[in-house]
Order: sequence, then structure tokens, then C-alpha cells
Amino acid sequence: MKKGLFITFEGADGCGKTTQSKLIQQYLEENGHETLWTREPGSIGLGQRIRELLLFYDGDVSPRCEAFLFLADRSQNIEHVIKPAVEQGKIVICDRHTDSTIAYQGYGRGEDIIQLKYLNELATGGMKPDLTIVFDVSTEIAQLRVGNEKDRMESAGIEFHKKVRQGYLEIAKQEPDRIKVVNADNSIEEVFEDTKKLLDNIINQ
Ligand code: TMP
Repeated sequence: MKKGLFITFEGADGCGKTTQSKLIQQYLEENGHETLWTREPGSIGLGQRIRELLLFYDGDVSPRCEAFLFLADRSQNIEHVIKPAVEQGKIVICDRHTDSTIAYQGYGRGEDIIQLKYLNELATGGMKPDLTIVFDVSTEIAQLRVGNEKDRMESAGIEFHKKVRQGYLEIAKQEPDRIKVVNADNSIEEVFEDTKKLLDNIINQ
């Protein structure tokens, strides 16, 4: 059976990855590829309920509880959405995945990164992205893009978001073959050109 590809888009809030992921999906479809776009948290069904809780619940949420909710959503998404589509030969584009947990709950909230890696592995059953693109944006530009209407995670403060950004850069250093960093301070068009090159490279490998 033809095997597809699993690509994840990552970065701090306001980095523009959702816009880029949609543009890339359109580009791939126009070039004859079958694709599937998904996101974490909140792809389908139960995941959407978990997303509501994670982003809009207004009581106390412990960092560990937060981590487990993201992981619960991930295990559903891998099993019901990502794995079947990759097995059908599709190019799956996932807006956030395991590296978000390391960057946000690990570097951002201070949960133990080794334990989070283990839990990620449990949630995904060991399935890993073929390519991850981190959209790196300066925290000041990102905050302007997010604007004033913030969800629970976006409201976590500038120091938290600086740690998340540094976290992503650290993760990218540790896995240079899988993770590529794109400068997302640039215009949508420039970022799209850089992203397209990374996609073309992996498809033509
Ligand atoms: P987004 O869909 O707008 O990117 O929002 C999802 C938010 O959830 C964003 O602030 C990042 C955060 N997040 C985590 O903290 N950990 C995770 O594992 C994931 C997938 C997302």
C-alpha cells in the first residue's frame, strides 16, 4: 500500500502557521496530491470538546491536567484521523502536534520534558512526523498579531510566550533532520515561499 506523509506545523501563538498550513494544502492539492488538514487540539468529535475546555475553561487548570488534556486529544487524533489518512497515501498536514506539548507545557509551564516526551510517545503510539516546520516569530510581532481577544493559552503572558519560543528553537536544534525553522517575521508571501521549498524537498526525496 502507498504510504503518505505526515507533516506538522508548529510555532508560538501568532506565528502564522495556520494561514501557511492552509496555503500549503491548497498548493499540494493543485499539484495533484491528496491531502488532509487537521489540528491539535480539536480535530473532530471529542477533540473539539477537549479544545473548548483547554482554550475557554475559566477556572483553575493545573499544568499537569492541561498536559493530559492535550495528550488525550492527540491520542484520538492520531488513531482516528492521522494514521488512517497516512495509510491511505495522503499528505497529512497537522496544525500543532507533539512539539507543542514540549514547547508549551515543558519549556513554558515547566513540566518535566523527559516525562512529556514519554507521554507523547504513549499518545501517538510512536508515530512521528516526517517533517516539522517551526514558524519562528519574535514575541513582540506575535503578540501584535494575536490582538486583544485572547483565549486561555494566549493570555498566559509575554514571559511565558518567550519561553515557548526559546523552547521551539531548542527542540529544533535537537532534531535538525526532522525539524526545520522558517523565519515567520517575514511577509505571508515570503514565508510561503520558504515553506513550499521544504515541502517540495520532502515530496521529491
Ligand atoms: P491554536 O489552535 O490557535 O494554535 O491554539 C492552541 C493553543 O493550545 C495554543 O496556545 C498552543 C496550545 N497548545 C499547548 O499548549 N500544548 C499542546 O500540546 C497543543 C497541541 C497546543
